Amino acid sequence: MLQVSNLDVYYGESHILRQVDLSVPQGQMVCLIGRNGVGKTTLLKTIIGLLQPRSGQIIFDGEIINSKSPDQRAKLGIGYVPQGREIIPRLTVKENLLLGLEARKKTVKKTEIPEEIFTLFPVLKKMLSRLGGDLSGGQQQQLAIARALMGNPRLLLLDEPTEGIQPSIILEIEAAIGKIVETTGISVLLVEQHLHFVRQAHYYYAMQKGGIVASGPTSELSQEIINRFLAV
Ligand SMILES: Nc1ncnc2c1ncn2[C@@H]1O[C@H](COP(=O)(O)OP(=O)(O)OP(=O)(O)O)[C@@H](O)[C@H]1O
Ligand SMILES: [Mg+2]
Repeated sequence: MLQVSNLDVYYGESHILRQVDLSVPQGQMVCLIGRNGVGKTTLLKTIIGLLQPRSGQIIFDGEIINSKSPDQRAKLGIGYVPQGREIIPRLTVKENLLLGLEARKKTVKKTEIPEEIFTLFPVLKKMLSRLGGDLSGGQQQQLAIARALMGNPRLLLLDEPTEGIQPSIILEIEAAIGKIVETTGISVLLVEQHLHFVRQAHYYYAMQKGGIVASGPTSELSQEIINRFLAV
């Protein structure tokens, strides 16, 4: 589904990502772990096209997408939930959700939200007319994920969806993502720090100083890897 190979990314002259290789197979959930500042967000931004790699390839569905804009990548089926959520505070929950439709290949005229969204995130149904900015952090995160789903993605990039969120909501978000992967065939690339959530993925990659330094099935996550790469 997604293959990243030999990716090198710079911010100006600082070399951030080094020879990154990573793949996300169809229908699987892959987790990227690593301490603060190692380059996890930089990798997701490069995959969605907000940053251009200096070298390396990004292949989605067998096609090299390096030269495509973020908007084109969204229409190809890559959904992105940035770190810090970035919902629009002055729009209502419903308006925020409908914005997600812009990522679809064909513009659909829709004013209703599909019921499946509320099955995944029941709390949103009660809050459709509330302003996005008035939701709690956990609710905003659910809204951000729901908005990405409105675009019908085949691959979902999630950047630390549980950062700064209270434990009970973390479990709800975990369960929703698990259900999405199980029931829809959507592939997920997740950046995450919570071990419980990381274990829900099929496969992990660990990043250090912009390079992938360990990877494997999450069933084989050792205590040593956990201590080195997760802030638990
Ligand atoms: N716009 C920018 N300009 C210059 N350097 C940047 C920029 N954004 C990030 N960096 C640097 O790139 C490196 C990687 O940052 P990145 O945000 O990808 O890390 P991260 O692994 O996502 O960290 P965190 O866990 O804190 O979210 C850091 O050293 C950071 O300071
Ligand atoms: Mg980050």
